[in-house]
Parts: sequence; C-alpha cells; structure tokens
Amino acid sequence: MSETTVFDCTLIEMDRHHSDDRGNITVVENGKTVPFNVRRAYYLYDVPGGGSRGSHAHKELQQLIVAASGSFDVTLDDGNVKRTFTLNRPYQGLLVVPGIWRDLNNFSAGAVCLVLASEKYDEQDYIRDYNEFLKWKIKV
Ligand code: TYD
Repeated sequence: MSETTVFDCTLIEMDRHHSDDRGNITVVENGKTVPFNVRRAYYLYDVPGGGSRGSHAHKELQQLIVAASGSFDVTLDDGNVKRTFTLNRPYQGLLVVPGIWRDLNNFSAGAVCLVLASEKYDEQDYIRDYNEFLKWKIKV
C-alpha cells in the first residue's frame, strides 16, 4: 500500500442525530460510514495543551480519526505532498489510507482523539523512521 497519496485521504461528514436539548449522537457503522471493518478503537486523552502525537506511518492499517472532543491538527504526508486538516467537530472523521505519514499537533487542552482502525495492533505495521518511510514509498 505504498503507492497511496494524501489525496486518497478525505474528511468524512457523518450524520448527526439531534435530540432537541439533550445533545447529539453520531454513529459509525461498518460497511456504511467507513470503507473498512472496524476491528479496534482507541483514544488519546490527557495530551498536554499544544502537544503532539503520531509521527509514523502504517503499511496496511486504515483509520478514521475523530476529534471526539476539543481540537487538533493532523498533517498527512505521502513523501511528496503534505495536507493539514484541523479536526474540531465530533461528527467529522478523517479517513487515513495506508502508507501515509501522520503528525498530530496543536492539541487543545482536554481534547479526545478517537481512532477507529481496520486491524488489530501490530507493531510490524508501523514505520516510525521518516527516512525509512521515504525509502519505502519510493521502492514501489
Ligand atoms: P502509538 O501508536 O505510537 O501512539 P501515537 O500515534 O498516539 O503517538 O502508540 C503509543 C504506544 O501505545 C505504543 O507503545 C504502542 C501502544 N499501543 C498499543 O499497545 N496498542 C494499540 O492499539 C495502540 C494504538 C498503541
């Protein structure tokens, strides 16, 4: 999956079900909201205000990244082009295809980053060195 580009990654606008003054609910369903089956969910929280996460790529993993609360920026990089998305709405999800380097920056205090992932955790699927990532992209 090293031939992907940042233009394969998109912001998905999910449905919001309004419940008058009781708040909203957004549902993510396999085969409907995301183009993969969700096998794992995890969330980042207690990230210090202004903090950063990420700085790696995945070889096969697909993800939907949601700012469940607060905001942060996600910079995607295919080795050629970079695109930065500000996530700050719980009903928007950033679809990140495999083979994309990502940096998460500018976390607001108290932000919650919810990640829905297509595979179980596998450290072998990570590329954590940027030069190694560039070599892996070019090799195709
Ligand atoms: P990592 O994916 O590097 O986090 P981030 O992209 O937010 O900086 O994971 C951080 C640590 O958590 C790493 O040591 C591996 C561990 N981890 C798991 O054990 N299981 C998981 O599903 C995830 C996502 C991480």
